[in-house]
Amino acid sequence: MAGLALLLISLHSCTSLAALTFSVTDFGAAGDGQRYDTKPIQAAIDACASSGGGRVLFPSGGSYLTGTLFLRSYVVLDVERGARILGGSREEDYPPDSAEWYVVLAKNAKGAGITGGGEINGQGEAFVVRSDARKNVMVSWNQTGSCLGDECRPRLIGFLDSKEVRVWDITLNQPAYWCLHLVRCDDAKIHDIAIYGDFNSPNNDGIDIEDSNNTIITRCHIDTGDDAICPKSSTGPVYNLTVTNCWIHTKSSAIKLGSASWFDFKKFLFDNITIFESHRGIGMQIRDGGNVSDIVFSNINISTRYYDPLWWGRAEPIYITTCPRDSSSKSGSISNILFKNISALSENGVFLSGSRDGILRNLTFKNVNLTYRRWTAYSGGLYDYRPGCQELVNHSTSGIMMEHIDGLNLENVSMKWFKNRTKDWVYPMQFKGSNVNKLSFHDWNSQIIGINGGVLM
Ligand SMILES: *[C@@H]1O[C@H](CO)[C@@H](O)[C@H](O)[C@H]1NC(C)=O
Ligand SMILES: *[C@@H]1O[C@H](CO)[C@@H](O)[C@H](O)[C@H]1NC(C)=O
Ligand SMILES: *[C@@H]1O[C@H](CO)[C@@H](O)[C@H](O)[C@H]1NC(C)=O
Ligand SMILES: *[C@@H]1O[C@H](CO)[C@@H](O)[C@H](O)[C@H]1NC(C)=O
Ligand SMILES: *[C@@H]1O[C@H](CO)[C@@H](O)[C@H](O)[C@H]1NC(C)=O
Ligand SMILES: *[C@@H]1O[C@H](CO)[C@@H](O)[C@H](O)[C@H]1NC(C)=O
Ligand SMILES: *[C@@H]1O[C@H](CO)[C@@H](O)[C@H](O)[C@H]1NC(C)=O
Ligand SMILES: *[C@@H]1O[C@H](CO)[C@@H](O)[C@H](O)[C@H]1NC(C)=O
Ligand SMILES: *[C@@H]1O[C@H](CO)[C@@H](O)[C@H](O)[C@H]1NC(C)=O
Ligand SMILES: *[C@@H]1O[C@H](CO)[C@@H](O)[C@H](O)[C@H]1NC(C)=O
Ligand SMILES: *[C@@H]1O[C@H](CO)[C@@H](O)[C@H](O)[C@H]1NC(C)=O
Ligand SMILES: *[C@@H]1O[C@H](CO)[C@@H](O)[C@H](O)[C@H]1NC(C)=O
Repeated sequence: MAGLALLLISLHSCTSLAALTFSVTDFGAAGDGQRYDTKPIQAAIDACASSGGGRVLFPSGGSYLTGTLFLRSYVVLDVERGARILGGSREEDYPPDSAEWYVVLAKNAKGAGITGGGEINGQGEAFVVRSDARKNVMVSWNQTGSCLGDECRPRLIGFLDSKEVRVWDITLNQPAYWCLHLVRCDDAKIHDIAIYGDFNSPNNDGIDIEDSNNTIITRCHIDTGDDAICPKSSTGPVYNLTVTNCWIHTKSSAIKLGSASWFDFKKFLFDNITIFESHRGIGMQIRDGGNVSDIVFSNINISTRYYDPLWWGRAEPIYITTCPRDSSSKSGSISNILFKNISALSENGVFLSGSRDGILRNLTFKNVNLTYRRWTAYSGGLYDYRPGCQELVNHSTSGIMMEHIDGLNLENVSMKWFKNRTKDWVYPMQFKGSNVNKLSFHDWNSQIIGINGGVLM
């Protein structure tokens, strides 16, 4: 059997001018979605790596059930259109250490990638204990005590301490927990990908960019329950992230910095993004002392609506906050943030909240069109500082709420209110003179419009 496989590979390599291709079926993968193909797939990956790299092919038509696969340097998984990798749903399918719970895991790899037009599926539905339209109750594999609570499930794909990560032309479906996770990576390019997670499952994040530099994400379509694009800093900073041409729908934040925020976030660009009916649009939940600076958000259309208080977020189109998570935490600052050409339709106002030791500095809103309209049964009147800080606070609702700010420039900003439950709103802007300084207005407009959009006053 092994001899046959080797013969087939050598024939392949003689006839192909491109990098070597190793088909998992040549290594004995059944691809029937029933039998575990973990060993044959891993053997194909390892053979590919030993030969200096190339492609590991998952032929179309197959459903390849597997436990954790360890991806190696210069190996690209080529999951053909019509093929799928199916992640196991048993704890024994994953390594003992919960930090390695991924369906596909690259560690210390260079030039590893995933492509092919097919699908990687985490069987997230198998991890739902009880379906609940408000928020599903999930399985927890916490018997060993290695992790706590319901955040104890396998992620779909992880690149840890890796360089030249490439993920493109692939669909990532139904993660059991986070979907695509970059940790301490340098130079990751992710493009032309789609992510579909259950809308009601918590922690179904789209892409988590943790402690990683020089990341490019473009042409992504993400429709999932939890934060869609989520930079986090736990062991080091996140520098130089560019996200463009994406479409996002989520029951949490479409873009979120944090809440893990122990180190700095610097030099990010988010451009040409559509955020559709999400619980929050652009968010920063800075809680652990990391500082945020030089971030641009441009050409973004946002619509936000209220879902359920079990989820963080209250339909804010833009939510920028920094406060100490608890009494032992520090406050990071947030500075030099530009919002340009943003158009939002939302059920709640913009929330800009620094804290005594974590000031928001030099924020600019330029050519920003904010439209407010209540259309769900949401009653408003709560500020959401979660996680930690003041948690939920009863408070009147305004178009832009500001606290602890040093420098806010509004240039060509228009605010429009649909004449539907306008009494729910108190002021276009709300702040205390004691902690907001250097406010500048240029060409600021506010008006109430009719249900059909006509101007009333
Ligand atoms: C496992 O999670 C449950 C539910 O959150 C919790 O009650 C229990 O203490 C956890 N056990 C361990 C060992 O983490
Ligand atoms: C990212 O860049 C910063 C600044 O140069 C550096 O301290 C950090 O180690 C880098 N992280 C990675 C994963 O390369
Ligand atoms: C930012 O990352 C991109 C993509 O890796 C790279 O081309 C560019 O040189 C980086 N910019 C800086 C200032 O490091
Ligand atoms: C913006 O992104 C969309 C995809 O979401 C794409 O079709 C369009 O071409 C992009 N526009 C520009 C100017 O790049
Ligand atoms: C954030 O900035 C403050 C003030 O410059 C500094 O004291 C603190 O160390 C910075 N935080 C980090 C994680 O570098
Ligand atoms: C503003 O952003 C919208 C939505 O992304 C885009 O369609 C439009 O072309 C942008 N306008 C300018 C002047 O860049
Ligand atoms: C953004 O909204 C504007 C106005 O509603 C619309 O003209 C434009 O096509 C939208 N652009 C995107 C990228 O959704
Ligand atoms: C304020 O932020 C803008 C980006 O929005 C930046 O160009 C400018 O240099 C910043 N000003 C200061 C004083 O840092
Ligand atoms: C003001 O912003 C709107 C978008 O909200 C844009 O269409 C318009 O061109 C801007 N006006 C100027 C003078 O830049
Ligand atoms: C402002 O946003 C509203 C609602 O999204 C939209 O109808 C209108 O066309 C936008 N105006 C501009 C100038 O972008
Ligand atoms: C006005 O709000 C009610 C709920 O209070 C909702 O049923 C209705 O659809 C809303 N109308 C518009 C035009 O938003
Ligand atoms: C907000 O006020 C309502 C009604 O007074 C009360 O029932 C609720 O507990 C308050 N919520 C918080 C978070 O204080």
